[in-house]
Amino acid sequence: MHLKKYLYTFTYDKYETALSKLESTYIFTIADDNKLLWSDKEVDPFISAFIKQRLEVVVSNTDYSTLLQEIKELDIHNEGFKVEYLVLEGDSTAYDERLTKLKDIGYSIEGNPDYYKPTVIYTLCNFKGTWCFGPMTKDKFDWYKHSKKPRSYSNSISPNVAKSLVNLATKADRSKTLLDACCGVGTIMLEACFAGYSIEGCDINWKIVRNARVNLAHFAYETVVYRSDIKDIDKRYDAAIIDLPYNLLSQATDETTAHIIRSSAQLAKRLVIVSIVDISEILKDIGLQLLDACSVGKRGKTVFERQVWVCEGV
Ligand SMILES: C[S@@+](CC[C@H](N)C(=O)[O-])C[C@H]1O[C@@H](n2cnc3c(N)ncnc32)[C@H](O)[C@@H]1O
Repeated sequence: MHLKKYLYTFTYDKYETALSKLESTYIFTIADDNKLLWSDKEVDPFISAFIKQRLEVVVSNTDYSTLLQEIKELDIHNEGFKVEYLVLEGDSTAYDERLTKLKDIGYSIEGNPDYYKPTVIYTLCNFKGTWCFGPMTKDKFDWYKHSKKPRSYSNSISPNVAKSLVNLATKADRSKTLLDACCGVGTIMLEACFAGYSIEGCDINWKIVRNARVNLAHFAYETVVYRSDIKDIDKRYDAAIIDLPYNLLSQATDETTAHIIRSSAQLAKRLVIVSIVDISEILKDIGLQLLDACSVGKRGKTVFERQVWVCEGV
């Protein structure tokens, strides 16, 4: 079996399934299959809330003894390494046998292991009869620190959704420039900055802008937040993300929605929009081409759904 270079594992719940799959098709051009995805593209797991880990397959073989020999030939020297076993669906290798194999591999690597603070984690797994070995990169969820931002907002989207919007807007290409057109307290901006993107924000409400600036400064992210109606911004970006206003604090009539989307379309060819209502007619009226759309739910007493729209100017 010819395997791709990287094996990614995913984590998401039923409310996030559609968004996670859409995100994967934009990052990798394919969606995961049963929370597994093979690709030759190297992506940092921390850019997405749904990518749990990435195994770089350095050697693979259907015969375990040959695999072990190949690992020895790699002549790995590493101080503080750890070896783990990843159990994939369909792998019936018994627990004791898994431990034996981890020991085999541990003895094939030069250096002292460190089980608690490893410098590198090597992983063994069996995918449909093929043994795979290589270094594993896990999402350490460092971005969870953003949940402790000093200023929050009842309207804010979750960090999971925020991260996905950035990926839908950029296809995980860090050279893309971004605008958060209705940035609120900066939830999307925080995730974009964390992932290494150049992003600027805009909000019409000065109190909210002040809060976004406090949040960004708290995590030492240096960027610009404009206190402005989006129509008055006159820069160009590769993509704009718009989390549309929808409640009493930030009124949302069809006119407001059309005004914000039309103004943003002047600034960026690609738009990723979040709404709580169907905006397909508005997009059509503005002349935007709808590429994809999906729903994302929010856990709670009642399921609250948002719609995510990916579109481009023609
Ligand atoms: C749903 S909230 C965005 C929340 C944000 N994503 C966050 O996580 O905090 C929508 C925002 O749009 C802003 N807004 C409304 N009309 C606007 C306009 N014409 N130009 C720029 N911002 C606008 C509101 O002040 C509000 O903060």
